[in-house]
Amino acid sequence: MNTDRDADRAGSNVNGSQAPKPASQQPTGRFVYVAAIFAALGGLLFGYDTGVISGAILFVKDQFSLSSGTESEVVSSVLWGAVVGALFGGWLADRFGRRPVILGAAVTFVIGAIGTALTPTVSWLIGGRVVVGIAIGVASLIAPMYIAEIAPPDIRGTLVSINQLALVSGILVAYLIDYALAGAEAWRWMFALAAFPAAVLAIGMLFLPESPRWLIAHDHLAQGRQVLTRIRAGKTAETEREIADIRSGLALQGRGWDELRHPGVRPALLVGVLLALFQQLTGINTVIYYAPTIFQYAGITSSSAAILATVGVGVINVLTTIVAVRLIDRTGRRPLLLVSLVGMTVSLVALGLAFRSPSTGGAVGWFAAASLAVYIASFAVGLGPVFWLLISEIYPLSVRGVGMSLATVVNWVTNLLVALTFLTLIDHLGKPGTFWLYASISVVAVIFSTLFIPETKGKSLEEIEAHWHGGGRLRELGQHTDAD
Ligand code: BGC
Repeated sequence: MNTDRDADRAGSNVNGSQAPKPASQQPTGRFVYVAAIFAALGGLLFGYDTGVISGAILFVKDQFSLSSGTESEVVSSVLWGAVVGALFGGWLADRFGRRPVILGAAVTFVIGAIGTALTPTVSWLIGGRVVVGIAIGVASLIAPMYIAEIAPPDIRGTLVSINQLALVSGILVAYLIDYALAGAEAWRWMFALAAFPAAVLAIGMLFLPESPRWLIAHDHLAQGRQVLTRIRAGKTAETEREIADIRSGLALQGRGWDELRHPGVRPALLVGVLLALFQQLTGINTVIYYAPTIFQYAGITSSSAAILATVGVGVINVLTTIVAVRLIDRTGRRPLLLVSLVGMTVSLVALGLAFRSPSTGGAVGWFAAASLAVYIASFAVGLGPVFWLLISEIYPLSVRGVGMSLATVVNWVTNLLVALTFLTLIDHLGKPGTFWLYASISVVAVIFSTLFIPETKGKSLEEIEAHWHGGGRLRELGQHTDAD
């Protein structure tokens, strides 16, 4: 009842003579930044908990006298958990809302951190890491989804990419903490420290609102309006227009698989899945997980120099992600993605060439290290943030959870695949062959992205949905931004 009255009011405002200003011309409330930063703690935990194992494993291995098989189970258990978390996370978020699911993930992070820190046996540790992985899998998709759904269109790219910035900062913090605690062999503390940001995230989510889009899609119109009014800093006209857009978008959408199979929506689904494949199959996590090993291949043999060089990788990753955060709403997603993929291709070819040289160390070592730096910077400025951003933007509201789950599961499965096959590939194809394999996948990604990646810059989520439902093609989206 109430809902209908609300709807009428929404309609009359939207169709009234006073056309509200476009969102991009209105100042944004501070609250939306606060909400995005809190939600991005999910990204920080994703990064910290994937990064921390590289240092902790050295001591865990000794403590439990692990065989190399068990060692790789300990390392990969988090990725298996992430696959499971990503599989159910989207469905849970569509069913119960974004907020309770982020809250649940935060609590799971706390339990996982304490559980792994107190572990008495290695099977307990593997179990604990699976639990942490489940939380990572869930957070990896719900944090960007939540941020995208509260953000105004003109700063959505920046706000969602703050999650990627938090992620790479988490990786760097993990490297630094591993380094700082290595002397004391305090591996339990390395795991335990994740409980702090996780607790802050849980407490923060108690105070943050549910996504207004989820509320409206689930017939809680009055609450949705209340939240939107708060995050749009009380701009009533803009809020009412947004509500009307969300509702008319929903009216066009089917449910579940019907919507995903909609001929207009299917290409968007394919874009998410392929971009997930490209993000992982171009080898980023060989560097994130095996950086010290790669530096040793390049002739940096002392382990402290290799660890220091690894911290350097983390720093470059953070700094270049800041560049992406600043540019993504100005240049758009496509230019960053294309520059990124070209840079990755060139640096992967160069890395292969460096490893082809019969000598290591000296100039060749420097060339390899420089190529690795360019590779990381290229990934961080485009493919890293753009993948998570695009999948939070391109799916219609009624299936956003399921669509994002699908792309995220593919991302985690291929992440696992690359992690498990890297050393075997090096044995079979050699170092140049392995990096050239990643380079050739990167070439395919350049071609695919040039032809098919849409531009979502400045578009509201509802305009994007309407584009698919109107039978618009992928590349037509965002081509006429100025004229629109
Ligand atoms: C990827 C992760 C990767 C991280 C590194 C993310 O966008 O999904 O797999 O470890 O970037 O920066």
